[in-house]
Amino acid sequence: MDNKPLIVRVLGGEVVERPPVWLMRQAGRYMEEYREVKSRFSFLEICRNSELAFEVSMQPIKAFDVDAAIVFADILLPLEGMGFEIDFRPGPVVSNPIASPSDLDRIAIGLGSVGDQVSQTVSLLSKELKTEGLPAEDQKAVIGFAGAPWTMACYAIERGPFKHFESAVIFARRYPEAMRDLLDKITKVTIDYLMQQYRAGADFVQLFDSWAGILAQDDYREICLSHLTTIVSALQDAGCPCVLFVGNGGHLLDVVREVGARAVSLDWRVSLSEARRRLGREVILQGNLDPSLLYLPSQSLRKRVREFLGEWPERSNLIVNLGHGVLQTTPPENVRVFVDEVKRGWGV
Ligand code: CP3
Repeated sequence: MDNKPLIVRVLGGEVVERPPVWLMRQAGRYMEEYREVKSRFSFLEICRNSELAFEVSMQPIKAFDVDAAIVFADILLPLEGMGFEIDFRPGPVVSNPIASPSDLDRIAIGLGSVGDQVSQTVSLLSKELKTEGLPAEDQKAVIGFAGAPWTMACYAIERGPFKHFESAVIFARRYPEAMRDLLDKITKVTIDYLMQQYRAGADFVQLFDSWAGILAQDDYREICLSHLTTIVSALQDAGCPCVLFVGNGGHLLDVVREVGARAVSLDWRVSLSEARRRLGREVILQGNLDPSLLYLPSQSLRKRVREFLGEWPERSNLIVNLGHGVLQTTPPENVRVFVDEVKRGWGV
């Protein structure tokens, strides 16, 4: 029996006995165990302390036996090393965002201490979850992550509260060169950050382009494509598969295909069959159930998961996930039902 974690086997194109499953934002406030740690430490303290971040990353593995641990951190952390002041209340706040092209002069191309801290957490997870000799079923993948440049730029430019990121779009229209410059800087830092996580033991990395859907397809190609391709090629050429999450991106799939990521993570607004058609047969799909389904009574939830899997014609090429993060008031027992139902196997 192949001893690699199930998700790694799917990313390698294997036909597998059951679909793998993990959830975006699987660690967090909906879990009692997380709230307990949060009563003692702030969110940033948890992210910056590898032992605490390790403990919190492990909570959904212990509670629900998902197939992967995602390192506990936040997409905004690398902005600190670049010279931005960030805080979480609990949503992110950037107190010195970019307002004009001259502000770019103060942006450093560096990660600060976050690279080491997050890699250290990845390394602890990797040691815990990928011990030689563990049976295949108990091997879990470790996921590293970063924000995609556009989504990071949205936070770097907008003062907040964050809603539609008009300031980022307006900045791109007014100062296209400065925008390119900013995205270049973020791209360099992101490659460094993700490579560190890969070297520390991440099996694959996910790039979160949460705010991709704000842009029309032509603008997404013009503003974002080259930076995404640069990051994905650097990682994948080094042997690290990339999953590209495109939030609200059903209209962007032709460009997404050009990025060349091993897997694409989608939300529930686009069907997997349409995604399959527009992304081609080679790409692995991740997703894409509506997080609000986790509020259904458990029998209805099970039925929806069965129907979802029943619509998937292959016994490969799919990583089951939600289309976006677990919502804060989600009943944890329904996460267990969800994971359990996926583990019952491919649909009939
Ligand atoms: O299990 C995991 O996935 C945990 C690790 C994780 C967090 N944020 C922890 C977090 C990951 C992968 C992220 C990614 C992230 N962060 C994204 C991309 C995914 C997406 O949702 O589109 C984005 C856009 C952010 C930025 C961010 N950080 C927002 C918008 C918020 C506020 C949202 C909220 O739920 O209040 C955060 C804060 C944050 N990130 C929390 C957690 C657990 C809540 C902070 C707390 O516990 O006080």
